[in-house]
Order: sequence, then structure tokens, then C-alpha cells
Amino acid sequence: MHFKNLDPKRVLIFDTTLRDGEQSPGATLNLAEKLEIARQLARLGVDIIEAGFAIASPGDFEAVSKIAQEVGQLDNPPVIASLARANKKDIDAAWAAVQWAKRPRIHTFLATSDIHLQYKLRISRSECIEQVGEMVSYARSLCEDVEFSPEDAGRSDPEFLWEVLKVAVEAGATTLNIPDTVGYCTPQEYGQLIAGIVEHVPGIKEGKVIVSVHCHNDLGMATANTLAGLMAGARQAEVTINGIGERAGNTSLEEVVMALKTRSQFFGGLYTNIDTTQLVRTSKMVSSLTSIPVQPNKAIVGANAFAHEAGIHQDGMLKNPLTYEIMRPEDVGWNSTNLVLGKHSGRHAFAERLKQMGYDLTREELEKAFERFKVLCDKKKVVSDADIEALLTDQFETLGNDLFQLDELQVATGTGSTPVASVRLIDAEGEPHQDAAVGNGPVNAVCNCINRITGANAKLVEFHVHAVTEGIDAIANVTIRVEMTDAEGKKYIFSGRSADTDTLVASGKAYLAAINKGLRRLRRAQGQAAA
Ligand code: KIV
Ligand code: ZN
Repeated sequence: MHFKNLDPKRVLIFDTTLRDGEQSPGATLNLAEKLEIARQLARLGVDIIEAGFAIASPGDFEAVSKIAQEVGQLDNPPVIASLARANKKDIDAAWAAVQWAKRPRIHTFLATSDIHLQYKLRISRSECIEQVGEMVSYARSLCEDVEFSPEDAGRSDPEFLWEVLKVAVEAGATTLNIPDTVGYCTPQEYGQLIAGIVEHVPGIKEGKVIVSVHCHNDLGMATANTLAGLMAGARQAEVTINGIGERAGNTSLEEVVMALKTRSQFFGGLYTNIDTTQLVRTSKMVSSLTSIPVQPNKAIVGANAFAHEAGIHQDGMLKNPLTYEIMRPEDVGWNSTNLVLGKHSGRHAFAERLKQMGYDLTREELEKAFERFKVLCDKKKVVSDADIEALLTDQFETLGNDLFQLDELQVATGTGSTPVASVRLIDAEGEPHQDAAVGNGPVNAVCNCINRITGANAKLVEFHVHAVTEGIDAIANVTIRVEMTDAEGKKYIFSGRSADTDTLVASGKAYLAAINKGLRRLRRAQGQAAA
């Protein structure tokens, strides 16, 4: 067990952005992006990083291992966990991936609700108990830190749940995580569920095992449920940055952390180890790299979270910020110093700025980013943090997704004429491919042309463009979602993004990034099916 003699008021933050969060449709991250997020999570001060689901794919396995080898080897590092279903193959893969960390954890799960046992797993309650005992004890034979989750605990019979959890503790589990998998519980119910577990499962009150809360937001109650669970005795909260996750998402890290901090007295002095000044930076990084925008009115990290529009509010704020502000923007990292760089800024100033923004690039990545920064300086007088963020996001997006690269793009469009795009792509072998296509708009013409060249069976389903900064020379940041269909007719969503001072170039590159991801994934799936 990694957290011995924990202060009874301390709440551990288990971040699952890279596992449950990455399960958001279209949020696929490449290895470089996952590593960048993991480094930032360590800076933020999370206690445990769930780095992925090692058995899910070779890419997931590699990401978990690399995070374990790098972030898991820092001084005083976070615990690095991998998810595993309750079977030997999954558990072996999880262990093989996390073993490199100074503080590894295997997180294994098996459903306990009658609905899941009967319809999904087709096993009886006693078979479930037996499997939990065997697999937790197998995981424990490999790793001293084992977390067990009874999936769909929120809809499980509490007395059966106590029985399963008791077996898990006897088999060596050190953390018991209680997922409200489908976001069904209300705060009162979930709090009672946790209180019942604390009361009836031996080992918890004695401090031998930690109870964890894991909530989904289907009814908008994930944060409230998580806080209710902590009030009832849980001391680990499983959360994601910006609340991203399957369907309506998971509990948002920033909301739980700031609720405990701002209403400390109400929550009986519970506290976390999070450096709250890193919250906005982390939120922006995750939003950029996953292409999932943060709604403006999102608590803590939304663009409007600290904006006061009404005259009465503005008047009060000028007289004393305490009138309408319960938290200080600088305490969550809304930057007071947004320094701008320009064409006279050198490599050193640029590298320093990146560090302050939370990016830790290799020498090669830094060189590439600096070159692109210089090109941008020729187009824009001043380059802000937001411009740099867009530029980096674009650079990460193309890493490892180079089946095709955009070489040339021209579009002819205007009133009364059909838009025509001409595109030249370079494939992985360096061969050029050129074609032209029409469309019902210039972006559509570009997408049609890319489909013709790559052979992708793809359709643009979402398109967002926003100017990163104000002014005529602003960078356009394009985020798109593409639906692709495999040979069996199964549909998948892939996202792509790009930034450029030319909106059509940004659109073409964003579309190509999504197509590259999709083609890789579908080819891999095809290869696995054939094997
Ligand atoms: O929501 C859930 O049940 C999960 C488990 C696998 C922990 O994410
Ligand atoms: Zn979950």
C-alpha cells in the first residue's frame, strides 16, 4: 500500500483523464500527447494517474509503460495505474506496463449489479465472488498496490456489495473504488452507499484500505455525489480534467478540488495536495490536445467563470471583490501575466515561456516549435500564449499520424461558382498524390478531395473554427469530428484539429489529421481481425 498513515483529512486525487476521459468519443490521444498531459498532471500534484487500459491496444500499452518509465520515475512521483478486467491476461498486461513506475498500481474491476451479472457477464453472484477473490489475489501476487472496483456499484444490492468487497480486502485489495458507472445515484443515496460500506466492510475503519469514489455525470450530479461520498468517509476521488469522459463525462477534478478548498469548514477540513494555480493551465492543455472545448460557463475553468457582466455586479466588484467573488481567479491559475512574444524573442525566451505554460518538450520538439514560431512571427506582430498553445497543439496532432501529409492546397470559390479544391498529399513513403474535387462549400471541397486521395470512407460531422486572438492576423483554430465507416459498416468518430492563419489550410490539415488517425485505427483493427 503506497499511502500508509495518511492524514485522516487528506483526500487523494486519482486522475483518470487518460483512461476514462480518453473514452470520450473522438478524444483519442497519441503517445506524445498522453505524455505531455501526464507530466502536467504530475505538476498539478495528483496522487494517482490512471495512465490507460494496457490490454486495450498496443498503443495504450506503450503509453502506460512510457508514462510509468518517465513520470513514474520522478522524485516523489504519482502512483501510475493501469485498468484491467478481472482476468489474468488483462492483469498481466497491466502489470507489464506499470511495473516500471516507482509506485505502480493495478486497478482491476468486475461488475456486481444483477443487471450486469445476468445480461453482460452471464455469471451468478457466487461466481462473481469467486472471480473477485481469485483475481484480486493474483493481482496482489504481482503488485503491492491493488485497487478493486465493483462496476455498476451504484445499482448493486448493498449487502451483496459488502460481501464482494470483504472478499476483495481479504484477497489483498488496498483501495476499494465504488463506481456509479451509469450516473444513476443521487447525492444522498450515494453518500449512504459509501457510509454503509465504511460501516460493514472490515479493514476500512482500521485504515488498512482506502475507499474511493468514482461518479459519472449522466444526471449532472457527479460532483455532488463525489463530495457526498467524501463526507461519508471515502478518501480517494476519481476525477478527470474538465470532467471529460464517456457520455456526459466523469466528475470534474477542478470542481471537487475547489469545492473542498473554498468550503473547507463545511467539508470538515478535508483537503487535497493539488496546486490549484495549475488548474487553468491543465484544463487548457487537455482541451487543446483532446479537441474537446470547455463550455464558457464551466465552473472554475470556463472562459466566463470569473467574468462579471451585470452592471450591479461590476459595481460591487469594483467596491470590493468579495461582494460577488467566492474564489480569486489567480488562485486557480487565470493568468495575470500573459506575456507576449514577437519576432525579436529568442529561442531561450520561447523555451522559458513554454515551460511556464506547462510544456516540457524534447530538444527536437522544441526546435520544430521554434521554427514554426518564427514563421508565425512573420505573419503576426505579437504572439500570445493562446497562439503558442494553438501552434503546439497542431504540432502534437501531426506526431505519429503521418500516413499522409498536406503538401499543397488551393481552393477556388466565390459567389455563383462551384467551389473547387486541388490538394497534393505526400504519403509515408514520400510519394506525392494529387487530385481535385468540387463541394457544396470550400471546406466540403477540401474534404472531398482528401477522401478521393486517401480512399477514406469519411464524412465531416462537426466543424468548429475560432480565432485564437483578436485582430486581422489572428490564427484560426479548427476542430473537427469525422465519422468513418469500416468494411463491416461499423461507424467510428475521430477528431482532428489544426491552427493556421489561413482558415482553409487549417481546415484541410485538421481533416487530414482525423483521417490519418482513422485510417491507422481501422487498418490496425483489420489486421487484428485477419490474424
Ligand atoms: O465507471 C466505471 O465503472 C469505471 C470502472 C471501470 C472503474 O470506469
Ligand atoms: Zn467510469
